[in-house]
Amino acid sequence: MTRKCHPNEASWTHGENRVAHMEIASSKVSPWVIRKYALLALAALRREGVCNGVSQLVAQWSFDRRHGLSAFFPREVRHEASEPEFRMSDAMQYQGVDPRLALEILNRLPTELRSEATFVDYGCGKGRGLAVGILAGFRQLIGVEVSRDLATLAERNLQTLRLRHPEVCIDIQIMDAARFKPPEGPLVVFLYNPFVGLTLERVVQRLAHHATRSPVHVVYINPRGRSAFLDHGFRQRAAWPGSQGLVLESGLVSELL
Ligand SMILES: C[S@@+](CC[C@H](N)C(=O)[O-])C[C@H]1O[C@@H](n2cnc3c(N)ncnc32)[C@H](O)[C@@H]1O
Repeated sequence: MTRKCHPNEASWTHGENRVAHMEIASSKVSPWVIRKYALLALAALRREGVCNGVSQLVAQWSFDRRHGLSAFFPREVRHEASEPEFRMSDAMQYQGVDPRLALEILNRLPTELRSEATFVDYGCGKGRGLAVGILAGFRQLIGVEVSRDLATLAERNLQTLRLRHPEVCIDIQIMDAARFKPPEGPLVVFLYNPFVGLTLERVVQRLAHHATRSPVHVVYINPRGRSAFLDHGFRQRAAWPGSQGLVLESGLVSELL
């Protein structure tokens, strides 16, 4: 069963890693970071084509404006000293998901699954994936993010949607995803290529174990670690053109999709 939270109480619940009263850390951007992301943006424009690339950027910007987010700019990952086993070499830097693609994939999941399952965004960054999860109809959402700065921004970013959807319960955990234990009950796992390597392997092992008790659906965008799921008994259920996104499911899921 998924955990319920009272609509009128603070629907931001935090476990061992409370973010409620933290200040937003200073976000000075060094010239090195600006140069690096400018080069990445150019590479993306070359890959996607100018029209498609620009239309994606406009869609992201207008999504953020409509829903009160500030999630546009990429950010380097910084982890907490409390996470000594965090593997920086596995971590992907923050970049917000394409909300159109994410919403299109999530909206294909059955309505009853969206209202009953807990949505877990592993590596939630500034919260755009969680915002898409709320718009897709999930009521219980968890964001797991190793970087305190980003988790704090996610909390701030989701305030508008939280006011518009008081029925929704969102829990942001600041921790290494490799240590995160998902709650009991059906899960929809959301991954926008947050990490690879041993970190991904540990997360998939835990999800495979969870799947022996409850159904687990995985929405995986930019699925670099797809084979880790297949190796642990997940099946690919749907794929989007160019393998930009996949839906995988555990053995316990049958007729739900
Ligand atoms: C590509 S961003 C995804 C952002 C967000 N899910 C979205 O859809 O907009 C990857 C995120 O994963 C986080 N991350 C990387 N390794 C992590 C780990 N081991 N545990 C938790 N978060 C991690 C990064 O800090 C970054 O915010």
